[in-house]
Amino acid sequence: MDHCKAEISRVLAPLTKMEASRIAGLLEEPPSPELGDLAFPCFILAGQWKKSPAEIAADLGRALAGRRGECWERAEARGPYLNFYLNYPLFIRDVLKRIYEAGPDYGRSDRGQGGVIVIDYSSPNICKPFGIGHIRSTVIGHALCLILEAMGYRTIGINHLGDWGTQFGKMIVAYERWGEDEKLYQDPVNYLYYLYVRFHQEAEENEALEEEARAWFKRLEDGEEAAVNYWKLFRRLSLENYEQIYDLLGIKFDYYHGESHYNDMLDDVIRMVQEKGVAVESEGALIVDLEKYGLPPAMLRKKDGATLYLTRDLAAAMYRHRTFNFVKALYVVGAEQKLHFQQMVKILELLGFPWAQDCIHVPFGLIRFKEGRMSTREGKMILLEEVLRRAINLAREIIEEKNPDLADKESAAKMVGLGAVRFGDLSNDRVKDIEFDWDKVLDFSGETAAYIQYAHARICSILRRGGSALPEWSEEAVAALGREEEKALVKTLAAYPGKIEASAASYRPSILARYLIDVARDFNRFYHECPVLVDNPQLRQARLLLILAVRQVIKNGLGLLGIAAPEEM
Ligand code: ARG
Repeated sequence: MDHCKAEISRVLAPLTKMEASRIAGLLEEPPSPELGDLAFPCFILAGQWKKSPAEIAADLGRALAGRRGECWERAEARGPYLNFYLNYPLFIRDVLKRIYEAGPDYGRSDRGQGGVIVIDYSSPNICKPFGIGHIRSTVIGHALCLILEAMGYRTIGINHLGDWGTQFGKMIVAYERWGEDEKLYQDPVNYLYYLYVRFHQEAEENEALEEEARAWFKRLEDGEEAAVNYWKLFRRLSLENYEQIYDLLGIKFDYYHGESHYNDMLDDVIRMVQEKGVAVESEGALIVDLEKYGLPPAMLRKKDGATLYLTRDLAAAMYRHRTFNFVKALYVVGAEQKLHFQQMVKILELLGFPWAQDCIHVPFGLIRFKEGRMSTREGKMILLEEVLRRAINLAREIIEEKNPDLADKESAAKMVGLGAVRFGDLSNDRVKDIEFDWDKVLDFSGETAAYIQYAHARICSILRRGGSALPEWSEEAVAALGREEEKALVKTLAAYPGKIEASAASYRPSILARYLIDVARDFNRFYHECPVLVDNPQLRQARLLLILAVRQVIKNGLGLLGIAAPEEM
């Protein structure tokens, strides 16, 4: 479509006395095929030409009467628009050929030229629950890694584990008092969380506990062996558990640089903010006044000398820039931390780092699990693992019912179940709060991963029935395509690279996710009207090539969302 836009813009430039590049940006896709495929809105010239948009459209239409270009076959005025009709035989051939030739690379580009994008995502807190926010961060962050890679960036995924802080003092106290090794090794994440909750309960009655916890944390900060060994144990066991989940999801981080990674860089940060006069001492604490910028003051060191989450993030940003020389550093973190990241960027700016603006908070809203199949009583944490297992089980039940003869139900259930969780999240604009409804996310005919996966499996099945070998490319064959449903489908397939670009540019995997629903829907419409395995050999080959292209786009697109495309389900 882009090169059609370019061609049409070149034709219109002399007639409108506008820059071709400007025209290309104005061309719109009309809402229905009778109105053509690309439309130039004439409002834009009305002031200058002192005519109504409709008159201008008519003038332009007359000027182009009887003319055609390479990729358009006619132009017609309709109301205030000048509508261009594509040269479909050529368009269909070009699009399908491109997909056929590029295969798994269709949609990828080298736009990013290997520039490094650091993506900070997932980042759970050890000893605290792997909460919903972390689920969203995991799924969105991973999709962004994949999408930005497809745009030619080099991504570096960092898990900024919450692996330092006073909670470790509390955990050690709790463990010393009530901990049992066996339980810890059995189910570390839940058990640590249990101890964490118990600490807080008991501390309400017994004030001495908080004091003890502070003392243990101090011993940890001083590097005392007993404390460090506890910390290492809790961290290692938690991490092993997280890694099982990440494995199940096919996620690999380049680094587990948790907050503790920056411990020995904090003095430098403190020195720097003091030397540059960015922070001031106030009653023993170190504060950055951000009032001028409409932000509340930021504390970088408490009066007892302890550093904060923000101090660590400043150290992390500097470390990342120094180490990876990123073009962008993304923070896939819930919207509730907006202020934190505004303060971070502002302080980096005040410190004079020109790259401060390249640190971007990619926020997301809350997710709520609808009551029903999985109850989420107040205070009960939701483990990502539990959600995933639940989804796989439900998918298995549905598959048992729909397709009892399927050979490998287990792997299909995994693909469908994990896909449902991911897509349930990714198909919503990330900034909105979402409600996760088990019935909806696994609905095979709704706006779900299963709906798209099902289209993919269906195509695989048609291709299998169509013969043992995949169809060969043939320009003559695809000339047989031209029905409305076929044209619409090809047009949708042509939009794929642009959707990846748009997703990457706005850090919104939802654009790609919603697009894939359109692909599946257009495919279903086509298939409803146009049988593929017909007797006419040319038409049969043409339609096989068309569905092969659909399959490729679905597979590539789901792949960028981290979702598998099953061949059978
Ligand atoms: N551990 C934090 C939390 O759970 C998220 C960390 C996000 N990344 C960062 N660099 N601050 O809230």
